[in-house]
Amino acid sequence: MHFSGVADTNMATPMNRWIFLANFFLLLVQVLGGRDFYNILGVPRNADTNQIKRAYRRLAKEMHPDKNKGDAEANEKFQNLGAAYEVLSDPDKRKIYDRHGEEGLNKQDMGGDPFSSFFGDFSFFGGNMKQHESETPRGGDVVVNLDVTLEELYTGNFVEVIRYKPVAKPAQGTRKCNCRHEMRTVQLGPGRFQMSQEQVCDDCPNVKFVPEEKLLEIEIEPGMRNGQEYPFVAEGEPHIDGEPGDLRFKINQLKHKKFERRGDDLYTNVTITLVDALNGFEMEIKHLDGHKVKVTRDKITWPGARIRKAGEGMPNYENNNVKGTLFITFDVEFPKVVLTDEDKEAIKNALKQESKTKVYNGLQGY
Ligand SMILES: *[C@@H]1O[C@H](CO)[C@@H](O)[C@H](O)[C@H]1NC(C)=O
Repeated sequence: MHFSGVADTNMATPMNRWIFLANFFLLLVQVLGGRDFYNILGVPRNADTNQIKRAYRRLAKEMHPDKNKGDAEANEKFQNLGAAYEVLSDPDKRKIYDRHGEEGLNKQDMGGDPFSSFFGDFSFFGGNMKQHESETPRGGDVVVNLDVTLEELYTGNFVEVIRYKPVAKPAQGTRKCNCRHEMRTVQLGPGRFQMSQEQVCDDCPNVKFVPEEKLLEIEIEPGMRNGQEYPFVAEGEPHIDGEPGDLRFKINQLKHKKFERRGDDLYTNVTITLVDALNGFEMEIKHLDGHKVKVTRDKITWPGARIRKAGEGMPNYENNNVKGTLFITFDVEFPKVVLTDEDKEAIKNALKQESKTKVYNGLQGY
């Protein structure tokens, strides 16, 4: 192919210029913008706070340096993630970032540790991160029931819980601590000794426990199961000489008016009219997150008939992309009208059902 010189300049130059400008602009954004926090968290620019929190918590588990010992950049990646979360989860910082990039934020004070603010003392690995030494005394674990709706377990949610936690504060005087038993030998007279056991203690600065308000944020993850526990390490009962126990929230799934959950499957009942049962119908069932599940039947539906909708159950906790099945059981409502003789004849003709009565004998036919 050969283009004439005239055609070349007319067609290609404005295009080239545009591409050049676009590239230049991209470069500019990258240089000015610093790190792309949206990219780091893998969320769209219009993501809401819950999406950001969820993405962060998922990635924090994955990218934790303890879990990626082989990766030399693990620490840096984890720090980038923390910075991304710190900015995007704060509406004010996010606004600045959206407008002026990371550069704009660096002019502000970027203090604070994102981990203490978000996780508290939450452990990524279900509370196994700290190895409790058997000698260290430990306060009791506290288990609190957390009522959760089926809707929350379907879509996921963040709930905030205010906890009044007793915190040790310095107090006047001293207290006995590090107590142990020691043998004492006392000379009672020439050749006579008495050995006795004695409790020996040190003096420690005194402390008193003062209740302090603390906000804990709990993520209800999609597909969590009834009875599942959510640990906050070291938020349990304090121990004056040792470590505090853990605080665990136990998911208590509330009964739902329309849906019943068994594992990842959902069950619901629908009552239809006799006309719909015979003629077929189209209907929508409102799901737990408000989306509509379409049900279409053209065949006859008998009372007790059950249809299944694959993928319309609960999300699986381990893999949210997998969903259980929704089972819909139908009940048929019979009309209370009085039929005319013509109606009766018409129904007889239409249904072509022999008028034969069977004696019902229990389970036969089931
Ligand atoms: C559906 O109906 C059956 C039978 O009456 C009942 O046992 C079940 O609890 C109902 N399920 C729901 C979700 O209402």
